[in-house]
Amino acid sequence: MSTITTAVVDLDLTGPTISRHVYGHFAEHLGRCIYGGFWVGEDSATPNVRGIRSDVVEALKDLRIPNLRWPGGCFADDYHWRDGIGPRDQRPRMVNSHWGDVVEDNSFGTHEFMDLCELLGADPYVSGNVGSGTVQEMSDWVEYLTRGDDSPMAALRRANGRDEPWKVPFWGLGNEAWGCGGNLRAEQFASLARQYATYSRNHGGNDLYRIAAGANADDYHWTETLMRSFDDLSREPGEKPGPFQGLSIHYYTMSGTWSDKGSATEFSTDEWYATMVAARRMDELLTRHSTVMDRYDPHGKVGLVVDEWGTWWNVEPGTNPGFLYQQNTLRDALVASVHFDAFHAHAGRVVMANIAQTVNVLQAMLLTDPESGALVLTPTYHVFAMNAAHQDAASLAVHLRDVPVRETAGAQLPLVSASASVKDDAALISLSNLDAEAGRTVVLDLRGRGVAGHSARVLTAGTANAHNTPDAPAAVAPRAHDGVRAHERGLEVDLPAHSYVTVSLDLS
Ligand code: AHR
Repeated sequence: MSTITTAVVDLDLTGPTISRHVYGHFAEHLGRCIYGGFWVGEDSATPNVRGIRSDVVEALKDLRIPNLRWPGGCFADDYHWRDGIGPRDQRPRMVNSHWGDVVEDNSFGTHEFMDLCELLGADPYVSGNVGSGTVQEMSDWVEYLTRGDDSPMAALRRANGRDEPWKVPFWGLGNEAWGCGGNLRAEQFASLARQYATYSRNHGGNDLYRIAAGANADDYHWTETLMRSFDDLSREPGEKPGPFQGLSIHYYTMSGTWSDKGSATEFSTDEWYATMVAARRMDELLTRHSTVMDRYDPHGKVGLVVDEWGTWWNVEPGTNPGFLYQQNTLRDALVASVHFDAFHAHAGRVVMANIAQTVNVLQAMLLTDPESGALVLTPTYHVFAMNAAHQDAASLAVHLRDVPVRETAGAQLPLVSASASVKDDAALISLSNLDAEAGRTVVLDLRGRGVAGHSARVLTAGTANAHNTPDAPAAVAPRAHDGVRAHERGLEVDLPAHSYVTVSLDLS
């Protein structure tokens, strides 16, 4: 029996399009994500545009981030949007009770967020308050943002300096309603979601895609209850579902337990594998939530939105436990690549995903040094960059043969993960070697179209816990990969131990 791992890819058998929105992001008023991350204020010595850090914007623009979710998270259900408009020195303060119990001065509010999205070229995904806000308050916020005439909320927006309405494509109805968003029962929340969605209106040409707060990981009852609450979904395939259009799930990866999640940088080989098992669970969750959704929605009209995902480790020693600041190693990069393989495989149902969170919190793209102000790109950032061509490309099935499997804490962990896509005459194949100790060669058995040329990039380092710091900002950075050779069936690709490789193909 052959022991060479083979990946069979039919380049002309395309599946559903991979929405660019699965490469979405999340920024909460939490720790140093907004304050010190995105926002430094107009008077800061750090170069900024109207208070927003320029280097952060430039780094994220290179990722072509498609959307940004804000203001939470748990914070969203405590947030009252009127506190964050008008002259900054007159805005009321509030306590951020979820995250460090710090006082929030509301200097970053609606206008600042919309300005940030415009600078990034990203679609806003605003998370509305169901937990402690009223239906009227949510309705007014939508009107304030999106209405063009002289309605009361549009006039208020103009008085605050913004004439034109903004486009807001994505609207969240609460967050983790089963927990910090109100400790509600599924049935109770399903009714509220319908009500709040109804009053989150489309104004002018702004067409909201409303996303109801969804399940915690494997809470299939939550998904089933929300799906049951829809008006008849079996009608015409093209019809827009209502009163909301999508529902979310949240799932975090860790090697330990919620009370001791493990260190971001000091981990054993066993913890590496436990982490990979946990990351691969995303595929199972998507399969099972999709199965529930398929039963009620055979035409696939309702979108599944993974609007919080990523690693969650113990905070870095000496930092505020409420600020969720963690380092980011090659292990985090592989967790991200495994998640993208799952999102690509479920492209027919998964319409959006948002990694938690963009700057300085949990599995961040960017870390800023509070003393020097230095900006560091994390290994996870590089996975997003290496995968950019998957955005809005047609998914391709990857059939893996002879993948070695490791028995890990009672679970079977396949040591290679892969996905692929094609757009016009270019294909991208992503390959993750989850083996912490050994390299592997994978034969790409390429069928259906000719390959006129190829190039490859690799992300790896000498150790699995390698990470970037202001002193060593490129300890983990992608480089051109020369471990790719012609093979009678396509190409042969070397995957070093704990590595991520992308192969770009020019198709004839
Ligand atoms: O991302 C951090 C927190 O994790 C969010 O605020 C909450 O929704 C989740 O529990």
